[in-house]
Amino acid sequence: MKGLILCGGKGTRLHPITYTVPKQLIPIGNKPLIVYTIELLLKSGIDELGILVNEYNKPIFQKVLNKYFTEDFYYIIQYDPKGIAHGLLFAEEFINKEKFIMVLGDNSFNFDLKHFIADFKTSEKSCKILLKEVKNPEKFGVAYIGDNKIIDLEEKPKMAFSNLAITGLYAFDKNIFKASREIKPSYRGEYEITDAIRWLLQKEYNVGYQILKDKWRDIGNPTDVIDENIDRLSSIEENIIGEVVNSNITGEVFLGKDSAIYNSVVRGPIIVGEKTIIKHSYIGPYTSIGNGVNIDKSNLENSIILDGCTIWGVESAIDSSIIGEGSTIRNEKGLKKVNKLILGKGSKVNMSS
Ligand code: TTP
Repeated sequence: MKGLILCGGKGTRLHPITYTVPKQLIPIGNKPLIVYTIELLLKSGIDELGILVNEYNKPIFQKVLNKYFTEDFYYIIQYDPKGIAHGLLFAEEFINKEKFIMVLGDNSFNFDLKHFIADFKTSEKSCKILLKEVKNPEKFGVAYIGDNKIIDLEEKPKMAFSNLAITGLYAFDKNIFKASREIKPSYRGEYEITDAIRWLLQKEYNVGYQILKDKWRDIGNPTDVIDENIDRLSSIEENIIGEVVNSNITGEVFLGKDSAIYNSVVRGPIIVGEKTIIKHSYIGPYTSIGNGVNIDKSNLENSIILDGCTIWGVESAIDSSIIGEGSTIRNEKGLKKVNKLILGKGSKVNMSS
């Protein structure tokens, strides 16, 4: 079956990080978010994969994904992104009237997708959606169920009378293209996929559902990125390839080639990429540190540090932070405050008391 991953869109909630790294390529546990989704699709029997990107991002997706996969993916460009149902229409030729699976590139799943695919393949359904019980349904599209059937759907309701959110994984047949052409933009000016599926329901196409018991996360905000990093690092396996000198290490630690930890305290789970040097520092749990990073006399935890950063003398804890590529954080005098930072590529922060 064909698969389609949607990575158009602007990622505005994750500015400034997404000025230089598309949301779906942000490293989580030092691996781009979308790589986890592609791995799940490929191992579940998806044999042709289309990746929908915006008009600027295709080269960076190709460059990054070529490092991880030998498969050729089919890149589709969505010009002037105006919603998920709008993006889907650009993929009509690639899908070529076949049944397919569509995943939002900023969602994270870990479940038995094989079973979901097999059920849809052999069914008469035009669409199957994956639902998840949530505490804050107003943030999502929600589904109303009665008699084991979907009765209605609503996009981000002001008050939700169902706690079943529509996750970003769907199975469709060709009728979704007809539906996406018929709908009008919503109040926020977007062609909503929820409205397209609602159109199918109203025209009495067979729309099925499955309730997901396993993990799902929709990654839109910095806190979602940090939470996803915690989850992915929770299952990291220890592997110390680099050098550890005179340091106290506990928990699962992955230390890449040509990296070194000197005179430091490290509490896993953490991952450190290649050519990174950590000296006289405390690195606490759930921290992902990229390649070519230089950390000295600093204190950090629960954060994501992208490639080429320099962190010197920051004794107050850097916590729940995403530090963009090539950023410098330097403390001239010791500070005892907690710093929470979301910085883009090339940022420089000089802190003093
Ligand atoms: P959203 O998170 O709704 O939008 P966004 O990625 O532009 O982010 P923000 O709201 O912060 O500006 O998108 C969900 C997923 O769908 C994401 O992987 C991008 C994709 N998408 C498209 O492919 N085309 C689109 O037109 C839109 C809006 C989103």
